[in-house]
Amino acid sequence: MSALSRVDSRRMKTLLVIDASARLNRSVTRHLTQRVAANWLRLYPTGSVQHLDVGRHPPPAIDENWIAAAYTPAGQRTPEMHAALAASDRYVDQLLAADAIAIGAPLYNFGMPAQLKAYIEQVVRVGRTFEFNRDGKDPYLGLVGNKPTLLITSSGASRVVATSSGPETSYLEPQLLTTLELMGIRDVTLVAFRGQQEDSAHIARALAVAEREIDAWLPKAVGDTVAQNPEAAGVTIAECSR
Ligand SMILES: Cc1cc2nc3c(=O)[nH]c(=O)nc-3n(C[C@H](O)[C@H](O)[C@H](O)COP(=O)(O)O)c2cc1C
Repeated sequence: MSALSRVDSRRMKTLLVIDASARLNRSVTRHLTQRVAANWLRLYPTGSVQHLDVGRHPPPAIDENWIAAAYTPAGQRTPEMHAALAASDRYVDQLLAADAIAIGAPLYNFGMPAQLKAYIEQVVRVGRTFEFNRDGKDPYLGLVGNKPTLLITSSGASRVVATSSGPETSYLEPQLLTTLELMGIRDVTLVAFRGQQEDSAHIARALAVAEREIDAWLPKAVGDTVAQNPEAAGVTIAECSR
């Protein structure tokens, strides 16, 4: 039986696609997230794709009022506090409503783009996407649910590693994976395209690998969502560097 024929159309609804590249043209991550979205609608015609373009429309940076409001219990917030959290609440509602997530994240200056970090700041919310877990062995309790998530990254260098320093360093993937886990998202597939600044033959080869990984993710995501498997965990990593 194919993944598609197993889909329960009442439960399978929305893919949230988050694009963070500042480039609207020639972006590797945008090319790949568009492929995920097209695949989603082809495999799941009654589904929908929510597109959040933080690369084009960066979320506001959090400020002192935001922090004071976020750490005030919901029932005690003033109207001004609710206003300070309005954008954050919309981002969180959208995240909670998604059945699966695809994130396109370029590597900028050894880490994530500021616009994606601004989004992360808006959605990491105590009481909404995580709780402190003072008695448990994990310090945090994720509240988002273990949604199947495809993390697509792209770097200019063809060899990128999460080390403490050096020109090939990337803090992008470790920081995003840790933050997703904090919110309870542990079923993550990472497709890491490497070498956007290499020659065209390299780019064509690495893109073909990335596209194959992305196409393979979707039937798995559909299956996981239908099964609602809370135990699905662990990061699957595809390095697309040659
Ligand atoms: C502002 C900026 C900073 C970048 N910093 C790095 C970096 O630290 N390491 C690296 O390997 N590539 C770096 N690059 C290259 C990008 O990671 C690469 O072009 C990637 O494909 C961008 O994603 P996109 O194609 O979706 O726009 C940088 C690019 C820009 C525009």
